[in-house]
Amino acid sequence: MILQGKVAVIYGAGGAIGGAVARAFAAEGARVFLTGRHRAPVETVAKDIVSAGGTAEVAEVDALDEQAVDRYLQYLTGIAGRLDISFNAIGLPNPKTRLPLAELDAEAFSLPIVTYTRSYFLTARLAARRMAVNRSGVIMAVTATPSRTGTPLTGGGGPAMAAVEALTRNLSAELAPHGIRVVGLRPQGIPETARIKESFEGYAKASGMTWDQFQEGLAGRTHTHRLSALAEVAGMAVLMASDRASGMTGTTVNLSMGSLDD
Ligand SMILES: NC(=O)c1ccc[n+]([C@@H]2O[C@H](COP(=O)([O-])OP(=O)(O)OC[C@H]3O[C@@H](n4cnc5c(N)ncnc54)[C@H](OP(=O)(O)O)[C@@H]3O)[C@@H](O)[C@H]2O)c1
Repeated sequence: MILQGKVAVIYGAGGAIGGAVARAFAAEGARVFLTGRHRAPVETVAKDIVSAGGTAEVAEVDALDEQAVDRYLQYLTGIAGRLDISFNAIGLPNPKTRLPLAELDAEAFSLPIVTYTRSYFLTARLAARRMAVNRSGVIMAVTATPSRTGTPLTGGGGPAMAAVEALTRNLSAELAPHGIRVVGLRPQGIPETARIKESFEGYAKASGMTWDQFQEGLAGRTHTHRLSALAEVAGMAVLMASDRASGMTGTTVNLSMGSLDD
């Protein structure tokens, strides 16, 4: 159990990636504090963890609300005594229509950039203040491949993900001297998640393909000729959050299985 004794907070824990990471952290011995904007999906994850013998607490926390996050971390460190891992897995819903950049209004373009960078900035710095006391901790975020490759019809999503990756580097440059590592994960589309199924179905329809044909096309660009599984992303999150990754900071792990060059 490589996270035995660690205390982790997860934002967006009711989502596909947040939930999978929470289950994997708990299975490796971490005490997990699960937060989300709505309680019900987070509770489902917590119930799974508790029935598997783990420890999980649930709270409604808006990861864009600085005071709410601060209050929650105050509560968490009050009862757990420390914070070792902060994992931000929040995700905006897919846009209802996907417009080309030339037709997108400035507000729709800015929304993902402001949302993802603000939430990561707030949760990271509030975690850093608690972790610095122990000169130990890991701050993590999730991005997506449009951070590094031209991807049509993703609006401000690509710039948002690129900004989050830049923030990972800069947080690390400032925090690593205080014993805090900052590591991102950059998965490609995971077909078993509702978010990707919905958006790939939209792209498939627009290209006159079936969902299966579209997935096969994407899988063909990877070295493995298949797309990632949630469990693989969660497994990497566990490794990066553990002390075995003590040499890893200031970077985002490329989980594209070869479809995106370093
Ligand atoms: N799924 C993939 O294949 C994939 C691949 C690469 C990258 N990613 C990235 O990974 C992230 C998570 O993806 P996902 O598939 O897990 O998304 P998801 O299933 O839609 O989950 C996102 C979660 O974030 C929560 N959330 C949104 N805004 C929040 C806020 N302000 N405060 C607290 N929680 C908030 C949502 O809660 P509510 O529904 O209650 O609002 C939801 O539970 C996204 O940034 C996505 O771009 C996903």
